[in-house]
Amino acid sequence: MRRRGARSRRRQGRAAPRILTGFKEEHRSLWGHHPVHIRHSLAETGLFTDEALALLLENYPREHYDLLHMAECGTGNLKTWREGELGAVNGARAIEAIKAGRMWLNLRRVHEVSPRHARLLEEIFDELSVLVPGFDAFRLNLGILISSPGAQVYYHADVPGQCLWHVRGEKRVYLYPNRYPFLPEDQIERIVLSMTEAEIDYEPWFDDYALTFDLKPGEMLHWPLNAPHRVENLDSVNISVTTEHWTRSIRNMYAVRYANGVLRNQLHLTPPPPATHGASFWARAALAAGVKTSGALKRFKLERWVDWQLDPEADDRMRTITPYLL
Ligand SMILES: [Fe+2]
Repeated sequence: MRRRGARSRRRQGRAAPRILTGFKEEHRSLWGHHPVHIRHSLAETGLFTDEALALLLENYPREHYDLLHMAECGTGNLKTWREGELGAVNGARAIEAIKAGRMWLNLRRVHEVSPRHARLLEEIFDELSVLVPGFDAFRLNLGILISSPGAQVYYHADVPGQCLWHVRGEKRVYLYPNRYPFLPEDQIERIVLSMTEAEIDYEPWFDDYALTFDLKPGEMLHWPLNAPHRVENLDSVNISVTTEHWTRSIRNMYAVRYANGVLRNQLHLTPPPPATHGASFWARAALAAGVKTSGALKRFKLERWVDWQLDPEADDRMRTITPYLL
């Protein structure tokens, strides 16, 4: 999604933010460089009540959601979670089943399904473009996470810029430095190349170096690019919004890591560190563009199998089905 109203908002000057209500002067400097933890007003839009979410879930496009079951907090990893489907369960019953199970439902690209969420996404990034000088984001994405009490999201890193807007329930977010050994270059390259989901090797001692946030309703968290994180829901159902964005510098980092991944995995070379300037950057950007255009890496795309369906009558709210490839 590209924004249309940012310039007009900039012309209007710095009105008090309607959504990023906790934004302070210091956050301009911190944005993108250090975790930013502030208050927001998304709940006041009325878009995230159970009733609104149940309505949104009716006929939600299959290609735009993930339903995942995971192990108990403190156990398992990304390779062990199981992918499911909503089946014929209606929106209200699906939410009730998620409240009673141990799973999370990730509605992706909500802005393409719901015009009201599309307007909200535009408004969020209009505000940010005014609040953070030079922050010019594009390829915006809005997702909604509905997750069970005690659900978890394993240690991973995301490729685009990320904000987590917490709306209901409580969750603990562990945020790790975006550098070695928490984020080895060869592993983030494989994520960029879509060779793995988003998993990175995790060691329990990493937690000694994590920043921990107990997110409450109305709080958002933004972190430096690619910072690994994991999430544990506390004893409540959780509703959160995720936004993703790209900037020129994020796109450049993506291109150089894509090229480095090709050099490392296809040509078995050891690439230089990911710089986003100078002749070395432009050579790697050209390599990335060439490989992407050729489609040569398509065979490495991840296969996703679905092997269960939501079942409100079952003890664990799951019914095993014949596996199929998504
Ligand atoms: Fe994430």
